[in-house]
Amino acid sequence: MANVWSSNVSFKDGELHLSGISARTLARDFGTPSFFLDENDFRDRATAWRTALTDSFGENAGTVYYAAKAFICVEVARWVAESGIGLDVCTGGELAVALAAGFPPEKIEVHGNNKSVVEIERAVEVGVGVIVIDSLFEIDRVAQAARAHGRRQRVLLRLTPGIEAHTHEFIATAHEDVKFGFSIASGAAWQAVLAVREQPNLELRGFHSHIGSQILTMDAFGIAADRLISLLGKYRDEFGQQLPELDLGGGYGISYLPSDEPLLPTVVLPALFDAVQSSCATYDLDLPRVSIEPGRAIVGPAMFTLYEVGTTKEVALESGATRNYISVDGGMSDNIRSSLYDAEYTAVIANRVSDSAVTAARVVGKHCETGDIVIRDIALPADVVPGDLLAVPATGAYGRSMASNYNHVPRPPVIAVINGKARAILRRETEADLLGLDV
Ligand code: LLP
Repeated sequence: MANVWSSNVSFKDGELHLSGISARTLARDFGTPSFFLDENDFRDRATAWRTALTDSFGENAGTVYYAAKAFICVEVARWVAESGIGLDVCTGGELAVALAAGFPPEKIEVHGNNKSVVEIERAVEVGVGVIVIDSLFEIDRVAQAARAHGRRQRVLLRLTPGIEAHTHEFIATAHEDVKFGFSIASGAAWQAVLAVREQPNLELRGFHSHIGSQILTMDAFGIAADRLISLLGKYRDEFGQQLPELDLGGGYGISYLPSDEPLLPTVVLPALFDAVQSSCATYDLDLPRVSIEPGRAIVGPAMFTLYEVGTTKEVALESGATRNYISVDGGMSDNIRSSLYDAEYTAVIANRVSDSAVTAARVVGKHCETGDIVIRDIALPADVVPGDLLAVPATGAYGRSMASNYNHVPRPPVIAVINGKARAILRRETEADLLGLDV
């Protein structure tokens, strides 16, 4: 049974505490719904990925780029910088947050399948470490920006190795029907290699792949690495030198439910090393520098959402059984993952012990939509009442970052908690914020 809570969550007399602060105190001081971020847990996970990369790859350890899309704000960008790891951004907005935090540009990697010219120019201007190129158009656009700034821009090519992986399953095929990257199998990747080599203002450092998200087994990563490495071999055979870098992306799965065994850095990195080493031996290549891009695995487990229950309703099912609909004061505007991906979560009553028997329940939000479901099926004590606090763990990744203002619901704040102290690092949106856009 995996632990779904961050390391500084504990339960005393049935009440959830984060770093010693009770759920009732957190709710009183910051309101609900709110995201609570366990700062030490986040920092420890960032460090653990960095350490494991170095331990496994030694002098061939590249960079751990934290994937900002999972969750970013200025304060978190500072923690990432302090942890000594890099940052993967995929829009001008994410880059702006990084720069506002004073993030060292040379440790920023820029992604995106449709970076605008303005975004490319800004990235080159501020001196980002590497741009991951995703289309032939982009080769010209990045080269032009680099020329304009008198630079030689380091780039990687994003490749599609013909593998898609999610949670427990993966499929490996020759071709793929996706918007990202250059397909290896169709020859598009090689065409991109040749096109980059035509550009004196671009320095091709190597290849990148990202095969999916919330992956709980390692085999697909090894196949992807092998396909990238075979292209490194072709490059060496053709041009007589080896490209120095590989970036194998993110996607490492976490525990949303106690039954999900997470992919830990101490398991992932030794396995990646073995896969890379064995493929390099096959193609008679030197070991490249290897980078990775975990997002969810760093921030996902570090946050939980605290809601207040507003109403409950017993609904009779066709089977004759009943279901308790528990409505909370947020929903699909702060967690779209349940409706969008059928993602599963668990929850606890956070403010008290309940001795009541459990019954079939569904945790739903306050939005005007039937699909507004936070947890489709969960057994919760039958005595949940309005005013109870409900905590949902592992909402740090793609929760606040995918939040919306649907139904003009203000987005929740993110409260960082460390050493018994809590502070807002991203404040709650207000109605004034929402009205501020009306012209
Ligand atoms: N690198 C690249 C190029 C990516 O596209 C992604 C995620 C990551 C790294 C980080 O992946 P992670 O380690 O966080 O799994 N909204 C979805 C996930 C979309 C992920 C998109 N790319 C969700 O809520 O599950």
